[in-house]
Formats: sequence, C-alpha cells, structure tokens
Amino acid sequence: MSHQQPSPPQGRLTVPQLRAAKAGEKIVVLTAYTAPMAALLDEHCDMLMVGDSLGMVVYGFDSTLPVTLDMMINHGAAVVRASSHACVVVDMPFGSYQASPEQAFTNAARVVKETGAACVKMEGGAELAQTIRFLVDRGIPVMAHIGLMPQHSNRIGGFKTQGKDDATRAAILADAEAVAAAGAFAVVIEGVIASLADEITRAISIPTIGIGASAACDGQVLVVDDMLGMFERSPRFVRKYADLRGLITAAATTYAAEVRDGSFPSDAECYGVVKTDLTRKAK
Ligand code: KIV
Repeated sequence: MSHQQPSPPQGRLTVPQLRAAKAGEKIVVLTAYTAPMAALLDEHCDMLMVGDSLGMVVYGFDSTLPVTLDMMINHGAAVVRASSHACVVVDMPFGSYQASPEQAFTNAARVVKETGAACVKMEGGAELAQTIRFLVDRGIPVMAHIGLMPQHSNRIGGFKTQGKDDATRAAILADAEAVAAAGAFAVVIEGVIASLADEITRAISIPTIGIGASAACDGQVLVVDDMLGMFERSPRFVRKYADLRGLITAAATTYAAEVRDGSFPSDAECYGVVKTDLTRKAK
C-alpha cells in the first residue's frame, strides 16, 4: 500500500491508514512472533500480526487453544520493540474475549498497554459484533477474523475449508457484514471458497485480508514460518518463498561434522591464540 509519507523518517502505519487502504494498493501482512524476525520483516510489511498461531509454530501445541494472554503479550511486546514501520496487531487468545464485551475490553486493554500494539484481532462474526463495538467505542481498534476460525477447531472438527454450501456461505457473508457494521477496521478471511472471499471483498467497506481465500482480497497474510519453508508439509495455499528448513538442516549437519572432526573452532575463532605471522618472521 502507499505509505503517503516522506521517507525517511517513516512513522508506523496507523489503523486509519490501513482502513483507508481498501481503495489503494494491496495490504501486505505476515505473522511475526519474535524480535529478530520482526526487525527483518518490518520494512516489507504494512502489518505484523502476532498471531496465536504461535502456539503451534513456536510452542509446538496441536492447536491454538492452549495459548495464554501472557504468551501473546510477551511476544507482542517483542515484536513492537523490534519494529518501527508496520502496524502491529496482536491476537486475543481463546477464552480471553468470548465471555463478554467487558472481559474482552479488560484483556484487550492489557494487550494494548503492555505491548504497545495499536490493535487486537479476534475470531468471530455476528456473535462478536457487540464486543467489537464495545472495544472500538472505548478506543481499541479491532481486526475481525471470519471463515475458518482455528479457535473453533473443536466445533468444526479440525481445520476445514468453509463456505462450501449455500447456508455456510450466507452465514459467512453475514458475519463479514456484521463485523464491518460493528466497527472492525479490517477482517481476516481464512480458508474459504475463493468466490465467497471475492463476494465479501466487494460487499463490505473495510479491507479484507485473505489467507487461503482469494487474490481478490484487499491484502494477504501468511504465517511467516510457512512461507519461509520451515515445515516439511504446509497447506496448499502456502507459497514457499525460501527453504529455511533445508538451509538449517545443511548448516547443522556441517556444524556437527566440524565439531566432531575438530575443525571448529579454528584459532581465528578463539580468543588469545597467538597467530604465527610468517611475513614478520622473515623480516
Ligand atoms: O494466528 C494467526 O497467525 C492468524 C493468521 C494466520 C491469520 O490468525
């Protein structure tokens, strides 16, 4: 998207700028969970998303359900500290916002205060509209997340593409309209039939950010470890832009061999080892 600011210095993109990007260039979003990764991605992205996917990607859980608010806050704060350009959004984890608008506000306020992030993301459609309105009215911008909602994996029986039949298609479109009407500034559309993502993108006035959705969305997000090729298997919607798994495996293999054969470390990689300077000796 167009950043509409002279460079340098460039300030962090704001929620109103992202909201207005519906009419502009595509919005570039990647997940980030750590400071070093956030620092590398920052200049390339409009948003850095501290997704609760960190439960699976970083912590090795089977789902996002065990992720806690403290985990989100610790990783969110690291990503904010290491970035200065992208707008940072932090996921509200399962159980931290569904009980009531008041519960959602209390926990989202902690996220904003303790991380410095500008906004939060919550999974849900029409049933979450009242909560979204409650937070937005009290100063916390909300990004919604509809379609395949990983926090609903027990209800839907896994991670299945949504919107395949007329009834669920209509329900997801209604969800999109409800979260937009409630004041969400953008909505992630995950794992839905492409034509439905296209229809939603045309129907609502806020930006749609697709993942496993459609190129017609106003922006795209991927889990950074997926697009960097960290995993042997990934969903079909992932395009691998690197093979970090291969690079790391090759580097670790070489390191292990060199430690075992004694060629690492060399004298130059140790402190206080006197180098034999043949040139000086000859003089
Ligand atoms: O948790 C997450 O990382 C997400 C994105 C993949 C959309 O919700």
